[in-house]
Amino acid sequence: MNTVYYNADVPDDLRRSRLYNGQLFVYAARESTSALCAFACELAEEAFGRHDPRDAQHYLPVDEYVAILADLKPRFIHHPQSKRLVQNVLTDLGCDPEKTFFDVPRMRTATAANYLDTGIAYAFKPHRDTWYSPPMCQLNWWLPIYPIESENSMAFHVKYWHKPLRNSSHEFNYQQWVETGRREAANHVGKDTRRQSEALEPVELDPQLRVVTEPSGLLIFSAAQLHSTVPNTSGRTRLSIDFRTVHSDDLAARRGAPNLDSHCSGTTIGDYLRVSDLSHVPAEIAALYGAPADFAVA
Ligand SMILES: [Fe+2]
Repeated sequence: MNTVYYNADVPDDLRRSRLYNGQLFVYAARESTSALCAFACELAEEAFGRHDPRDAQHYLPVDEYVAILADLKPRFIHHPQSKRLVQNVLTDLGCDPEKTFFDVPRMRTATAANYLDTGIAYAFKPHRDTWYSPPMCQLNWWLPIYPIESENSMAFHVKYWHKPLRNSSHEFNYQQWVETGRREAANHVGKDTRRQSEALEPVELDPQLRVVTEPSGLLIFSAAQLHSTVPNTSGRTRLSIDFRTVHSDDLAARRGAPNLDSHCSGTTIGDYLRVSDLSHVPAEIAALYGAPADFAVA
């Protein structure tokens, strides 16, 4: 059973336990989420100049488009203002700032009609984020920057909440990925040869669930949900923001979603920053996840 809770006014502990059971939470745009999206929008519009970021793909050669994203995305990711705005979203949504940790927010672009779906705008095939080395309590937070439609949203393949899929996560090591794959993202235009975790058997895409929110609307889901970028047939690029959270009590107790089929190695534990003071996950908790001794040096 999967339930979509809309604007649910519940304590974070209850929300997390429901998310670990495969439920989804959706919130209407609010001041804190709108501020985050407005900042992303500002950077994107500045980067694309006279073109609307949603339509620039129709006017720019791919190489030029990639060059813009190669500058824009890291600028948003590492901007101190981005972190501040995420901190505001999390406290606004009732997360305990002392026990909630987040990673830097990413800006994603899903172009229409396969204009660019590799490298820096990788179109994610059905996958669980838990195939990429996070703790099983990781939650994903996702917001569209502009209005979206079903045709440029993302899909949840909910029946796989209970059904394992054969996949290549056993070949994925997060620390190796950071060393090589991520840094090379902008070089992979046309063909993407980086090693991604992926399903090794056909995925039944239907039934699938797509959630269409207003811009700055918020979707929260467990990293164990099987989801994908839908083939974008809307004619416009989708721009979205996502970031992840973990809770220190859940990390310490090893609570989270059930692990059906994730066999990756390495850990993302060094990526999360405490909402209150941007400190890393305490070393004794990080050690439970096999963090290397220098894990905090990212
Ligand atoms: Fe994902």
